[in-house]
Amino acid sequence: MGFNLSPDKITLRQPDDWHVHFRDGAMLGSVVAPTARVFRRAIVMPNLSPPITCIKAATNYRERIMQAVPEGIPFTPLMTAYLTDDLLPEVLEKGYRDGVFAAAKLYPANSTTNSAMGVSDMGSIYSTFETMERIGMPLLIHGEVTDKDVDIFDREAVFIERHLEPLLKSYPDLRVVLEHITTEHAVQFVEASGSLIAATITPHHLHINRNAMFSGGLRSDFYCLPVAKREHHRLALRRAATSGKPCFFLGTDSAPHPRSSKESSCGCAGIFSAPFALESYAEVFDQEGALDRLEAFASEFGPIFYGLPLNSDSITLKRHKHVVPDTFTSSQPITPDQGLIPFHARESLSWRVVENG
Ligand code: DOR
Ligand code: ZN
Repeated sequence: MGFNLSPDKITLRQPDDWHVHFRDGAMLGSVVAPTARVFRRAIVMPNLSPPITCIKAATNYRERIMQAVPEGIPFTPLMTAYLTDDLLPEVLEKGYRDGVFAAAKLYPANSTTNSAMGVSDMGSIYSTFETMERIGMPLLIHGEVTDKDVDIFDREAVFIERHLEPLLKSYPDLRVVLEHITTEHAVQFVEASGSLIAATITPHHLHINRNAMFSGGLRSDFYCLPVAKREHHRLALRRAATSGKPCFFLGTDSAPHPRSSKESSCGCAGIFSAPFALESYAEVFDQEGALDRLEAFASEFGPIFYGLPLNSDSITLKRHKHVVPDTFTSSQPITPDQGLIPFHARESLSWRVVENG
């Protein structure tokens, strides 16, 4: 599709979100719409409570998601399986071959929200990796070690060294997405790996560094996992996202939590970026003088990696300064304590999605 660039308007092939959390129940009813209005497909994370560990749970969840898609909007949720120490490889293989699972997600046990049932020992599921390598099923990784003696800001780099490098040596044909990368190490590692290894980059890790969490007080709205790192890492991520390299593509990791769960003595990790996600990325690409590379990052490199067709519809953004509301409003009722704070709340953004089709 042709790329139109003018000072005030860009038209892109419709993008996909290669990493999103939709939750369940009332929250699901509210948070699917902002994603489906902009993105044609999304890779849906399985860290529900209980997690999605079988084909039936995934098909039922997909059905509930479809019920939350606003009328008349074409949207395809791509489901993922949650790896545990004892999920049978045969279940993954059947789910993948039947078109139910698009990928499997590896959460190291206790690394993040609803990951207690995740993998406690990667060595114990090597037969799962063997199956995935054989059938070409993508492995999506939350790449952080959980050892208490490893500093939280080092957990991604240590995971790459301790777990990812040996895994890829053992399974050189495994297709891997290192999700929501946050460090220069991850950027360099992915760039140096072959075409089977890719990474998603979130809007928030392109905008904020770790100071954001402590700016003027404790700012839970900016707490996510992996936590934002130092400024030089953010700059490396911006270079990677805007590099035009196919190993880096869009994945918002939009992760809504009710305001009451964020603003608590033990607040949840997650940033709800869905409402203005594409605008947030456009801001970064514009600031980096790389708007002509936004389409490839948002709409091409993801489907190419996953072996899926490119979308044929388009979406237009206009240069239009607007202030992001302090609370997300939905056509579905949200109780006051479920109020969701969108990423960029009360900040101004320079681009706005104006149309689909
Ligand atoms: O910030 C995060 N929130 N990181 C994750 O890995 C999980 C997510 C969530 O589910 O809330
Ligand atoms: Zn996530």
